[in-house]
Amino acid sequence: MITRRNLLKTGGMLTTMPLFAPHMFWDKLTNYPIPSKTNNIKRFGDGRDWFFKKRFGMFVHWGLYSISGWHEQHQWRGQIEREEYSKLSEKWNPDRFDPEVWLDLLEETGMEYICITTKHHDGFCLWDTKQTSFNTMNTPYKKDVIAMLANACHRRKIPLCLYYSIADWHHQNYPNKGRHHELLPQKKDQPNWENYLKFLRAQVYELCTKYGEINGFWWDMNVPGHIDSTINQMIRRLQPNAVINDRGFDEGDFGTPERDFEADDSSGFSRPTEACQSVGMESWGYRNHEDFYTDQHLMRSIDRYLARDSNYLLNVGPMSNGTIPVESTEILKRIGKWYNAVKESLVNAKPASHLTSNRNIMLTGKDKTLYIHLNKEIPGNVIKLKPINVAPEKAVLLNDGREIDFIIRFNPSDHTEGKAYLSLINLPLNEFCNTVLVIKLTFNRPVEKLTLPFTPYDGDSNWYL
Ligand code: GLC
Repeated sequence: MITRRNLLKTGGMLTTMPLFAPHMFWDKLTNYPIPSKTNNIKRFGDGRDWFFKKRFGMFVHWGLYSISGWHEQHQWRGQIEREEYSKLSEKWNPDRFDPEVWLDLLEETGMEYICITTKHHDGFCLWDTKQTSFNTMNTPYKKDVIAMLANACHRRKIPLCLYYSIADWHHQNYPNKGRHHELLPQKKDQPNWENYLKFLRAQVYELCTKYGEINGFWWDMNVPGHIDSTINQMIRRLQPNAVINDRGFDEGDFGTPERDFEADDSSGFSRPTEACQSVGMESWGYRNHEDFYTDQHLMRSIDRYLARDSNYLLNVGPMSNGTIPVESTEILKRIGKWYNAVKESLVNAKPASHLTSNRNIMLTGKDKTLYIHLNKEIPGNVIKLKPINVAPEKAVLLNDGREIDFIIRFNPSDHTEGKAYLSLINLPLNEFCNTVLVIKLTFNRPVEKLTLPFTPYDGDSNWYL
């Protein structure tokens, strides 16, 4: 049997000098057709390309809603009167907010950028805006949260992206018409879309001019479906290195799939993509007694997007005192331990799932290295890599550095083809239940050339009798 150990003894010669089993090749000596290549997503070719180098970021939903601790849309989902809700600003005093602590956690998790809600649907602004008094300066706290975070990010060279909700439950000019994510018309409202857009432009201008370099603008909830590219053009003029998402007034630079990784089984994306997900199952903002996803669910989600050349934002909702809840912190630390161990397979490695027909796994690769991502349900202790039929020089489990057995063999399930393929065997899946395994295979040739025209005979099976 050709296992990793005795293959090493033969110097992997079998990969280049295959043994013949005549029954194997009686029909054709042709190469196995490699499925068509995954589309390569085009880079921007300018300062926005930081986005393709720093792929995993922290999303932060923070605002008045952290005081009631139920949901970031408490005002709407809980049907709280606007006046009543606004009173929460009298209690806004996050005296334990320290952006350095947030960024320490971000860095420990292996994250490389941050995106924060400057204004969520409730209309409360986390910065010193001159366009509305409903902001952090007019609270007991009296401090500009965005300025504090921006300074800390700049010091550490961590790209800062700003989330901004178009829907607004506080501004009297926003036409709240009771559509989704909108209040019903309120008594003191003066719906005036043009005026609201002036307000919005002035706020975006502030955000793009007061805080140094901004690396991303993250629109949300364009409920009216308004189209107007001039707003993004203003952002591009003021902040040329900012990537802009697709939830604003035009299609922007990148797509934003949300919480739906189970449903999304696409092999790749046609444009830059940044998936987002929260550690909490119900809310993006802080929720008392939140229900949390398992580590494995989150790791699978992160891995499945990053392995397809997408970015990923993992969200936490800080509490009203400014600290990130203990449970979320612990989750991030555990995710970070995993992510830092497997990171090389996700950052700077390209999607390579087209090299195998096995749809239970995803592949990424770079030069002579192929990474096997076990980011879905794996039914047994083997991974078949058909049509790859070259043995690696080494197979290592990135999670803990141990070596993994491999074999080139003819499997009963491949009897119609009569060919032998590479399999990773004796996988320690029962040992690793709440994580995502990534196996690094190092070859003596580029990964695009792992399908030899001749299939090595495994020498130990009597399949042909
Ligand atoms: C959803 C939520 C919203 C949140 C957003 C983040 O749209 O409704 O509250 O800000 O997801 O992507």
